[in-house]
Amino acid sequence: MLKPTVLIVDDEKPTREGLRAALEDRYDVYIAEDGTSAIRLLEEDPFDVLLTDLRMPGVGGLDLIKRAKSLGMPPICILMTAYGSEEMAVDAMRQGADDYIAKGRLQIDELEMRIARAVRTQELESENRELRTQVDTKFGLENVIGQSPAMEEIFEIVQQVAPARASVLVLGESGTGKELIAKAIHNLSPRAKQPLVTVHCAALSPTLLESELFGHEKGAFTGAHERRIGRFEQANGGTLFLDEIGEIDQAIQVKLLRFLGERTFERVGSSTTQTADVRLIAATNRNLEEEVAKGNFREDLFFRLRVVEMYLPPLRERGTDVVLLAKAFLNEYARENSKTIEELHPDAIEALLNHEWPGNVRELRTALEHAVVLCRGNSITLRDLPPSVRGESSGMTHPDAKAVLGKPDLTVEDAEKALIIRALKECQGNRTKAAAKIGMSRRTLHRKLHTYNLHDL
Ligand SMILES: Nc1ncnc2c1ncn2[C@@H]1O[C@H](COP(=O)(O)OP(=O)(O)OP(=O)(O)O)[C@@H](O)[C@H]1O
Ligand SMILES: [Mg+2]
Repeated sequence: MLKPTVLIVDDEKPTREGLRAALEDRYDVYIAEDGTSAIRLLEEDPFDVLLTDLRMPGVGGLDLIKRAKSLGMPPICILMTAYGSEEMAVDAMRQGADDYIAKGRLQIDELEMRIARAVRTQELESENRELRTQVDTKFGLENVIGQSPAMEEIFEIVQQVAPARASVLVLGESGTGKELIAKAIHNLSPRAKQPLVTVHCAALSPTLLESELFGHEKGAFTGAHERRIGRFEQANGGTLFLDEIGEIDQAIQVKLLRFLGERTFERVGSSTTQTADVRLIAATNRNLEEEVAKGNFREDLFFRLRVVEMYLPPLRERGTDVVLLAKAFLNEYARENSKTIEELHPDAIEALLNHEWPGNVRELRTALEHAVVLCRGNSITLRDLPPSVRGESSGMTHPDAKAVLGKPDLTVEDAEKALIIRALKECQGNRTKAAAKIGMSRRTLHRKLHTYNLHDL
């Protein structure tokens, strides 16, 4: 195993050499005689531990620690001083030192113990960091299903905007996954460990919404028996997700606008100005531009909110994502209901592909739950689907699509192929129109035609 690396910085040679001799059995020891050369070494390579004197000519110990802590993989920093005092220790810690040792009383075994402890802390920290990144990806985009170009584009935007603090406006019909995307943005952002607070704006009256968001003082209005912290304060350091933002009333729009400009607000019934470090994500299934035109939504707020704007496409424009999503929900509900249902029967797939899905992914989820509960065999058939979904599938399908879909071991590729064939027939071979109908880019359609050997269509 590799020895942990220790950098010793002291302007007095006897101290440096003494420490080196005492530590080099167990550690990989480097030495520097002043702060400047120490910084150079630290910038070249990450060290596990920095052991530095406080008073040195040039760059002092505290400044050195500050620099070291600003590095990508900072070392554990231990400060040594000739004369120890409580205040000095407190000050050192405040500047970023992890530990503090008074040289006068320094025993080598004591020092070794402190270093060992520091190294252990370092290891734990990097383990935690690793665990955290695992958790992050788990709840990031991993559980957002989709391979259609429209969704690929959404994934790209999410990854781009997640690290920033810019406000995001998520648009899309009901049930398209706006809340899911808001969560993914938060979970992939540096704020992931801080709270994500959600407020459903439409569910509350204007007065209640205002106090919900900004909090209130005791006695601010009838029924305000206690002081209450608002959602903005709760979300401090994290993200506030305002769902159905299109529903909020003018007075609150003004307050939101102010928050976005100045990051300040007041609790209801208080004149004390509060601040909060909050990232806003807003969502709506309304056409906000129209609401602005009608005078229902402030234009200035609209522009502030949509620093980044995303439009989640309706499910009917996501091509074979329907099948992917259906399989995922099938597995989920089969597990939940302790049933072994392995697949979707081709006739069910066909119905799923034909349905318009006005309720989008949420409707699909409910349909699959329904189907799993009713299903008696080990595959979901047309019969198991809710009547609303089943109804539209009769007779619409082209014989070619039927031929492919009739295969017993239908794969997503088969379903996709069938979809392409059908769309091309319906669009009289016009590839641009067919691509648009399936929710694919022309280029993707081209590639798929090649893959599936369908050039002649
Ligand atoms: N791409 C997806 N992958 C997996 N599950 C999804 C996806 N999109 C939506 N869902 C699921 O569909 C359901 C509806 O999603 P969500 O609540 O995020 O939609 P919404 O756009 O906020 O709806 P509404 O406008 O009604 O508030 C949830 O159960 C969600 O987990
Ligand atoms: Mg929602």
